[in-house]
Amino acid sequence: MNNPYLPYPVSIDKIVTETEDGSLKTFRFVFKNPEDEQKFKYTPGQFAELSIAGKGEVPIGIASSPTETGFLVFTVNKVGLVTSYLHNMKEGDVMGIRGPLGNWYPWEEMEGKNVVIIGGGFAFTTLRSSIVYMLHPDNRPKFKDITVIYGARTPGMLLYKDELAAWEQRDDINMHITVDGTDDPNWKYNVGFVPAVTEQKAPNADNAYALVCGPPIMIKFTQPVLNKLGFTPEQIIMSLEMRMKCGIGMCGRCNIGKEFVCKDGPVFTLEQLNQTPREF
Ligand SMILES: Cc1cc2nc3c(=O)[nH]c(=O)nc-3n(C[C@H](O)[C@H](O)[C@H](O)COP(=O)(O)OP(=O)(O)OC[C@H]3O[C@@H](n4cnc5c(N)ncnc54)[C@H](O)[C@@H]3O)c2cc1C
Ligand code: FES
Repeated sequence: MNNPYLPYPVSIDKIVTETEDGSLKTFRFVFKNPEDEQKFKYTPGQFAELSIAGKGEVPIGIASSPTETGFLVFTVNKVGLVTSYLHNMKEGDVMGIRGPLGNWYPWEEMEGKNVVIIGGGFAFTTLRSSIVYMLHPDNRPKFKDITVIYGARTPGMLLYKDELAAWEQRDDINMHITVDGTDDPNWKYNVGFVPAVTEQKAPNADNAYALVCGPPIMIKFTQPVLNKLGFTPEQIIMSLEMRMKCGIGMCGRCNIGKEFVCKDGPVFTLEQLNQTPREF
């Protein structure tokens, strides 16, 4: 991309309402100019700025995997000006995507290792990208055991329900889905907070990496559990969601200490974060 401020034009190909309260929708975009897809080469863990003329831009994690071609997927929580406008857009509408931005999960270092994915709430988006990427037949042999612990407040707040059900059926991924609580008598998975389920289900830390993405409260209580299981700060990888503007390290909106979350992150090891001021 020559001008990093210039979005690629895209149209909304498909919209799925993910959660029962309608707060989270998944948008599938296709590039208006097919050659732009070749320029938008991304790796799981990266994000992009979704750009709506006259409204603004929002940084959103890329939920699709580069192994899925012909489209990009983003799941968006309706919280404010731009995300509310996006939620009212329709299939066929045209807007912009700027990116890909930021760094990504350390895929080369994770090869030959067990990977534990721990996610909560809408932060599961780039973890969905990572799971789809690792399960692709070209990539699955590169990783050892894959364990996923994913929690939502209620069954109706889970994302990607059809895919979760399909992953549950596979024997090359260990799925542990949990909800904080439910009165659904047909609920067949776990009930309990993510840190407690992690303590019960996560394998030990030998030869493993943990990718952790979720609300601050989940991260706060999952960290000591991982420590107890033997994970060192170098083995715990997190993705941060600071407020951002330019997304390319120019405006100084997102820095913690000397790191720009948009450019040096959003993916950091806990070891790296331990060396920065605790602003996140
Ligand atoms: C790297 C990265 C990846 C992200 N991935 C996703 C994703 O996959 N899906 C998703 O729904 N959201 C994601 N976010 C958060 C998303 O960018 C914000 O929710 C969005 O910018 C809000 O824009 P708005 O105009 O709708 O809200 P505004 O009108 O600007 O603000 C509304 C409310 O949201 C809060 N807010 C605004 N920006 C952020 C932010 N960056 N983080 C936390 N709170 C914020 C404000 O404090 C305010 O309370 C990500 C953020 C970053 C930095
Ligand atoms: S958002 Fe501008 S420097 Fe990071």
